[in-house]
Amino acid sequence: MGFQSADPEGILVGGVLMDKIIINGGHRLCGKVRVSAAKNSVLPIIAASLLCPKQSLLEDIPFLNDVYVICDVLTSLGAKTVLSAEDNSIMINCENIESVEPPLDLVTRMRASFYVMGPLLSRFGKVKISQPGGCNIGTRPIDLHLKGFSAMGAEISLDHGFVEASCKKLKGAKIYLDFPSVGATENIMMAAVLAEGETIIQNAAEEPEIVDLSTFLNKMGANITGAGTDKIRIEGVKDLKSTVHQVIPDRIEAGTYMVAAAITNGDIIIENVIMEHIRPVIAKLQEAGIKVIEGNNRIRVYSDGIIKPVDIKTLPYPGFPTDMQAQFMALMSRANGTSIITETVFENRFMHITELNRMGANIKAEGRSAVVEGTGRLTGAKVRATDLRAGAALVLAGLAAEGETEIQEIHHLDRGYYNIVEKLKSVGGDIARG
Ligand code: EPU
Repeated sequence: MGFQSADPEGILVGGVLMDKIIINGGHRLCGKVRVSAAKNSVLPIIAASLLCPKQSLLEDIPFLNDVYVICDVLTSLGAKTVLSAEDNSIMINCENIESVEPPLDLVTRMRASFYVMGPLLSRFGKVKISQPGGCNIGTRPIDLHLKGFSAMGAEISLDHGFVEASCKKLKGAKIYLDFPSVGATENIMMAAVLAEGETIIQNAAEEPEIVDLSTFLNKMGANITGAGTDKIRIEGVKDLKSTVHQVIPDRIEAGTYMVAAAITNGDIIIENVIMEHIRPVIAKLQEAGIKVIEGNNRIRVYSDGIIKPVDIKTLPYPGFPTDMQAQFMALMSRANGTSIITETVFENRFMHITELNRMGANIKAEGRSAVVEGTGRLTGAKVRATDLRAGAALVLAGLAAEGETEIQEIHHLDRGYYNIVEKLKSVGGDIARG
């Protein structure tokens, strides 16, 4: 069975657009939730399959909208992608790649489509791809990706919103990243796998998703060391082989359900969690007075109703993740005091403030910081998800709020949270698509 195409505007059920979520808040959430594989690992790993003319099998994959988009990108280039609904696996075969020009509409639909640039350039020596452009969380340039490719000998030109790159064969290079960008580290790492000689990425991103990508590539026969530190070495290899891989659990999904327990005074056991990946989230919840009990691959989070204000500053891993900032802002809006939340990774990731304020929160943006005056209670309202994590924050606020919350444009949420409505219902949330 081939892939169904992603539906960028929401979920069509019987021809009717379901792009809303309705929540009747105020219920304590209690029970167990299992975390799915990490979206931000799955996407680069699917792109990395392009490096190998053999088959890759990815197991236990969440069929999120973004996963459909990256598979559509590969299919458009000539790859075969086969989904198995039985075990949620994806088989990818990139033997017969016919094009090195991913279609504009797919690349502009999802930024992570840009991850195919490194693999295409490395394997075929050329690529033409649209610049991904900005989005609701900032301008999000790609200069660091391009600097890396250029250091490896690629000729790069930018014209009418497209990037074209070519080279006979990429050559290993020493690349220092001005900022430990996750995407640039991944794209350069993938490009270096088939390059001639050794590439060293300095000031590399250290996120768990980088380590997972390197594990996948090494299983295929790549020679990468140092992933997870700020210095990654990649010794180029001639060819790669078939592999099977199980992607790491989604630390942001885990963190979101941890906040769901905290914000509803609930008690949730979250399964399929790698504790080391969520240290900063655990630390901040404990500082806020939330009880956290760590088990073997599972974590219990519960609250006795008191939420203390805590200050948060987002940073590259192992700092507090920017992808949990909006959810913590929802939590802090219920705290008994003032907290300051500072966003240092993205320039404009505060769109959720206006929406949370519609629900009775009292939050003011001051440059890159937000001052959150905890109001103790939130009330249901009509709000709009402006991006993935903003959507998650509104769902959390809606679960805790008195009365009905209607969240529009939840297609943003479906990009990154697998079966979120079903999972929240299973722990007692009164939540439905509308
Ligand atoms: N940046 C540059 N130049 C570049 C690349 C990045 O200036 O060439 C800047 C960005 O503008 C941003 C900062 O560096 O201000 C960090 O960007 P980074 O490249 O690290 O982020 P990304 O690779 O675009 C991934 C995740 C994001 C997550 C960030 C940070 C994927 C598909 N996306 O984005 O996930 O927030 O790393 O951890 O892996 C999400 O899941 O909601 C999400 C946005």
